[in-house]
Amino acid sequence: MKQIVADAAIKEVESNMVVGLGSGSTAALMIKSLANEIHSGKLQNIKGVATSFQSEVLALELNIPLIDLASVSQIDLAIDGADEVDPGFQLIKGGGACHVREKLVASKANKLFIVVDETKLVQKLNQSFPLPVEVLPNAWKQVQDVISEMNGSSILRMATKKAGPVVTDQGNLILDVLFNDGINNPKDIEMSINNIPGVLENGLFVGLTDKVLVGKIENGNPVVYSPTRVC
Ligand code: 5RP
Repeated sequence: MKQIVADAAIKEVESNMVVGLGSGSTAALMIKSLANEIHSGKLQNIKGVATSFQSEVLALELNIPLIDLASVSQIDLAIDGADEVDPGFQLIKGGGACHVREKLVASKANKLFIVVDETKLVQKLNQSFPLPVEVLPNAWKQVQDVISEMNGSSILRMATKKAGPVVTDQGNLILDVLFNDGINNPKDIEMSINNIPGVLENGLFVGLTDKVLVGKIENGNPVVYSPTRVC
């Protein structure tokens, strides 16, 4: 499912575009498909803007020309994964702790396409997937206390194969937050959390997504569809 949705997204890329390269396993497949199109000559003069250390390393390995976020005035199309997508195309991202740069790239992109499998579609955000919040290292406890006053329970994300917490590409920590009944008003929660001293950015993406490409299995075969946004 992830592969066909990644391939479908690459069909939207045209020569001479600056393309935002998302993070996560689905975006990684998209980056590999993009490299194939570039090296076969189907796409020319593509420049990628990485959203993470992961996508930067992959693009370098695959010889995709990269340009720094600070050096581009605009990004034509960003393609990224998501952890949850609601019917209004509001997202939770940051499962890979990359949402700070992902949101910077998405905000600078003329279009943001999201590639997911059907399991990521939800009626309401944050009923099962925790909202990632990137915090300055010495502020995590203080931020946790404020989030708790907002009826959110949070845990410090711990690393695997390393003792201690996950450290982001920016050198910060991640709190994973669940609200009692999910998130009813993503825009308000996005702003309220970002207003807490010590918070760098949270994984709510509101009003940024132009298209969602969804992979699913139908009659035993993987297919892609693009749902209509419900306003
Ligand atoms: C990373 C992200 C990813 O896009 C998100 O976690 C989805 O990843 P995957 O495609 O592996 O399920 O937001 O911060």
